[in-house]
Amino acid sequence: MRIPEHKIDEIRAAADILDVVSGFVRLKKAGRNYTGLCPFHREKTPSFNVNPERGIFKCFGCGKGGNVFTFLMEIEHISFLDAVDMLAERYGIALERQGGPSKETREEIEAMYEANRLAARFFYDTLQGERGKKGREYFASRDWNANTQRVFGLGFAQDDWHAFLHFAREKGLSEDVLEATGLIIRKETGNTYDRFRNRVVFPIISVGKKVLGFGARALGADEHPKYLNSPESPVYNKSRILYGLAQAHPAIREKDAVILVEGYADVLSLYQAGVQNVVATSGTALTPEQVRLLARYTHNLFFLYDADSAGLNAMLRGIDVILEEDCDSRIVQLPAGEDPDSFVRRHGAEGVRTTLEQAVSFVDFITDRFRDEGQLETPEGKTQVIHRIVDLVARMDDPIRREFYIHHVAEKYGIYETVLYRELDRELKSRGRKREAAPPPEVYREHPAEILSEGEMPKEEKRFCQLLLLAPSALQSEVLSHIRIGYFHDTRMQQFLHVLLEQQEHEGAIDIDALWGYVDDDVAMHNLLADMLMEPLRPISDWSQKQTVTPTDERRVLLDAYKNVVGRTLEHHANTLQQRTRKADDPELLQRFVELQRLIKINWAGIRAFEDIPEFDTEEL
Ligand code: UTP
Ligand code: MN
Repeated sequence: MRIPEHKIDEIRAAADILDVVSGFVRLKKAGRNYTGLCPFHREKTPSFNVNPERGIFKCFGCGKGGNVFTFLMEIEHISFLDAVDMLAERYGIALERQGGPSKETREEIEAMYEANRLAARFFYDTLQGERGKKGREYFASRDWNANTQRVFGLGFAQDDWHAFLHFAREKGLSEDVLEATGLIIRKETGNTYDRFRNRVVFPIISVGKKVLGFGARALGADEHPKYLNSPESPVYNKSRILYGLAQAHPAIREKDAVILVEGYADVLSLYQAGVQNVVATSGTALTPEQVRLLARYTHNLFFLYDADSAGLNAMLRGIDVILEEDCDSRIVQLPAGEDPDSFVRRHGAEGVRTTLEQAVSFVDFITDRFRDEGQLETPEGKTQVIHRIVDLVARMDDPIRREFYIHHVAEKYGIYETVLYRELDRELKSRGRKREAAPPPEVYREHPAEILSEGEMPKEEKRFCQLLLLAPSALQSEVLSHIRIGYFHDTRMQQFLHVLLEQQEHEGAIDIDALWGYVDDDVAMHNLLADMLMEPLRPISDWSQKQTVTPTDERRVLLDAYKNVVGRTLEHHANTLQQRTRKADDPELLQRFVELQRLIKINWAGIRAFEDIPEFDTEEL
């Protein structure tokens, strides 16, 4: 589904960020900005800023920032397109969609949701009514109390071929719609009957409170199938569903962690016991869509699976996606024969919390498995293990996290760090990335380098980009034609510069407000852009405090900022090279190192033009 670019621009221009944000935050004017208590993290003094002129917001406490779309995406936990939709409606802008479902299909989908909603209501009423005795008995046998039944909308489908069908007919629901949702089944003869009969019913509800479908459990232990689920349909897509998310998302956000379990029953029992940040994958491997859905709320995933679980293996297959979405996953294996449902019954919420504290990182989990299989005892086995681990680590975006795991694995399992790094470099290279590392000591620098905490970007790079954004247009295009993106460490910064280059190429100039159009629904880029535009440029005293800044001053300030970026990068490479030459006796590496040292020692202060900055091939490292 695509919305044309100019429409998105139109909506962004029409939407008043103050108006939208004010729905959630009490704002006070403070200079050009408005400030208030951040809605994304707990705070007592306001560090949340809105700049209506630029249409951006930024919290200096938790770092969240972006434009009006980002704000809605983050606060309502909705997609970019939903945010666009919402604002279009609010500001009365008609959306003509390209591709996307037609109006008819949209109406059909709405009708299916409505049918599901009524069905959930019907099953719930049945459960609570005089025909629901068997259902109530079942739930009593599992100890799921009236409150849990209400919160999860649990229901009962009575032992009757047409009970729901009759109800639906009375309500005037179309049989085609009912069939499409799978609530009824049509025989070849054309006769129709209820899909769910003599089963307890678990409605699957979205965060937006729509009933997507149902899982229905047989009452008896030996009835097959144990669970009967809604068939795939435009509203029920198994790979996008997480059972319990509608109920769990506030707790997931609050705890900044989610517990993943396999079954409906596990969700209900944990939730009822007070462990509410829990969702179930419902017997399938975790899909990329599910991970992305969760990543809106938290990046901390806890897998609480049975010891001998097939689900655990499925999870391990899904680990790649998890890493690529920058999520951290930990694994808890329950004692043999237990599942989360039985475990929480036996040990209570406290017991669950204690086990969660003992969760191991996925890297340890996988390595321990290999070790238990004796793989670390033979050279071949060890090589394989190294491959597998490095393959995983290479998927992490954050260099600091990568280094953490490399270090950790090396130490814990007695593998040489150099060996792991060599593999990592090879792996990263094959993915078209280069390795970055934590900051090295300084060589050329106006200000001393700071140790970066996780997720922070090098100050030099950010400062350079900020200056570039504020520079006059002619200087911008001049500078853009000379800089080397390879000299920037931070991948987001590289991406950002690519966006600038793209705009420069397409439009012949940088236009800050139109930049949003190049980053669309990329929340990380929204963040970065807001960050650069909102952060006061205080450190650049020689720039902002001058009354008049001559063009040469501007060029010089930018050039110095760029030298800082390059200097830091060269230093960093020298540092890594040095480490590597120390550990491996490689004349070629040594030669590169000497070359770098020479470069670092040239007269940087004497360089007066961008084109005179020496080139060094960072790719080969
Ligand atoms: P389980 O068999 O572990 O079910 O399957 P459970 O949720 O723990 O239920 P109880 O405790 O036996 O009542 C895990 C999940 O796999 C899916 C369901 O989503 C279930 O919750 N499943 C299982 C099916 O879809 N169909 C089946 O026949 C069985
Ligand atoms: Mn179970």
